[in-house]
Amino acid sequence: MNPKYAPLFEPYRLNNGVEIKNRLTVAPLTIYDQGANGEITEVNRRFWENRFRGFGLYIMPFTNVHPSAIGFESPQAISEADLPALKEYADLAHEQGAKAVVQIAHAGSRAQPAMTKGYDVIAPTGDSFGHFRTMTDAEVREMIASFANATELILKAGFDGVEIHGANGWLIQQFVSAATNLRTDHWGGSLEKRFNFPLEIIDALDAVRQKHNRPDFIIGYRFSPEEPGERGITMKETLALVDALLEKPLQYLHISLWDFYKKARRGADTQLTRMQIVHDHINGRIPFFGVGNLYTADQILAAYETGWAESIAVGKSILLNPNLVELIETGREDEIETQFDWDKANEYRYTPKMLHGTRIGTDFYPPSKQIAIRFKSEEY
Ligand SMILES: Cc1cc2nc3c(=O)[nH]c(=O)nc-3n(C[C@H](O)[C@H](O)[C@H](O)COP(=O)(O)O)c2cc1C
Repeated sequence: MNPKYAPLFEPYRLNNGVEIKNRLTVAPLTIYDQGANGEITEVNRRFWENRFRGFGLYIMPFTNVHPSAIGFESPQAISEADLPALKEYADLAHEQGAKAVVQIAHAGSRAQPAMTKGYDVIAPTGDSFGHFRTMTDAEVREMIASFANATELILKAGFDGVEIHGANGWLIQQFVSAATNLRTDHWGGSLEKRFNFPLEIIDALDAVRQKHNRPDFIIGYRFSPEEPGERGITMKETLALVDALLEKPLQYLHISLWDFYKKARRGADTQLTRMQIVHDHINGRIPFFGVGNLYTADQILAAYETGWAESIAVGKSILLNPNLVELIETGREDEIETQFDWDKANEYRYTPKMLHGTRIGTDFYPPSKQIAIRFKSEEY
């Protein structure tokens, strides 16, 4: 290995004593083509097999905590029936040498009525078209219990922890944002009250790990730092959320970005990157994970060397390079691919839905060499 990459392979320790062997994290990546009840399928297995050997931490993607959560084909942690699939995922990650956490999530207003098994599509505040309705106070509390139940299943399945999915406009972010939360009860009406849903989820998850006497069980939190629109989340609000989160027994914070170097839009110094602003604000209190459009070894290293993140999460580069860490460790970093090449389509081991998305140019997949059409996905 070229010694300049050595910093990426230094271990770090979480505040609950767990050591992560290096600075490379697998970003949560939904791959679709899951079974009808979230089961792992042959194409899922083929995709994940040996995909992230060498990474320190694997974040298993969007995993539904309740039937009303489902917005697309994805794994689930809803009942004991989900344990075999969860166990297989945990084994698959551990076999590749990574610590493994599951991203627990709910789509909220963006759930698909055809997939929610008879449950209503629900959100902090309903819409006037009847597409989704306002959750009752009891339902909000039940949903917190569903996040805890999912965590208990995940713990039993042998995972090392969970990541609370507070990003990308799904249910938890819908509670945090004034644009989507118009409630005036315990769960909304002021910035502090909009934080109550995620904060009480953390308490409920912490109670699960205490019940099982598992202080080593990791709880992380992912958030999107800004939203467009007048009432959308601002950097200032995000920094307040970070402070509130850091009062809780979390092990890491993980930002969701498409570009690691994206500058703040408003509510903070717009000359600075979101990464730097949040990292400076955290000020060493907890490890912070950065992400966004980092494909090559040099790009990953440069991002890490900004000092704005304790770990770098990698998404799209793993889609194209199922042996990314091996390429870095064996001095073959020049072979890292940054474009999908249809002549090598088989080697990426994409699921059929991912291939379809690439063919039609959905913007969140790596761009392909041969087809230039790109469009903005409605789905993500
Ligand atoms: C195919 C695909 C699926 C994704 N699924 C999830 C997901 O389940 N949960 C999540 O928080 N982010 C998801 N993301 C976002 C990634 O975690 C990551 O933040 C983003 O892709 C930017 O990093 P990258 O440029 O290294 O890919 C997904 C991204 C892609 C490309």
